[in-house]
Amino acid sequence: MVKKDDEKIDIGKRNFLKFLLAAGTVVAVGGALEPVFKYALSYEQEGLTSFPKIKVANINDLQVNSPITFNYPLENEPNYLVKLGQPAQGGIGPNSDIVAFSAICEHMGCIYHFETSLSPYGGPNVPGGHCPCHGSLYDYLEKAKVVGGPAPCPVPMVQLVLDSSTGDIYAVGMNPPTI
Ligand code: FES
Repeated sequence: MVKKDDEKIDIGKRNFLKFLLAAGTVVAVGGALEPVFKYALSYEQEGLTSFPKIKVANINDLQVNSPITFNYPLENEPNYLVKLGQPAQGGIGPNSDIVAFSAICEHMGCIYHFETSLSPYGGPNVPGGHCPCHGSLYDYLEKAKVVGGPAPCPVPMVQLVLDSSTGDIYAVGMNPPTI
């Protein structure tokens, strides 16, 4: 009889531990995916059903490693447009070196800084983003691939189009984050 009561207590403990483990997993996975859900839902909440086309700069305005900040697609969403001076994946322009990325860190939403080299922060010697909050690093030569810190995915890349007749650069869309 005593043994059965002990077994009941053990089963109760095991179930409680299983519950804690499951709850912890849900919280951890949910937390990691939060930026993705936020990104996907924000446009729906704002009533934005397609990306606008807006002029962000003229190619003659750009100097190597001097980013221009612009808001897109919503008025409270800053992005960096930068000419890197070396070819980058997805880059536009004669040297495929002009790129734009969201300036909002995918970890917890801080505004990160553009840096000409990530090496002082423990990353590779490439231009990219450095978040001062928890140290996430984004490699701008490789579509903002995460190369350091806790960010779960790259920051979204802005789709750019260059009008070669005028030199005007337009934002026309954004790539989703990739996990
Ligand atoms: Fe950028 Fe945490 S908010 S690393």
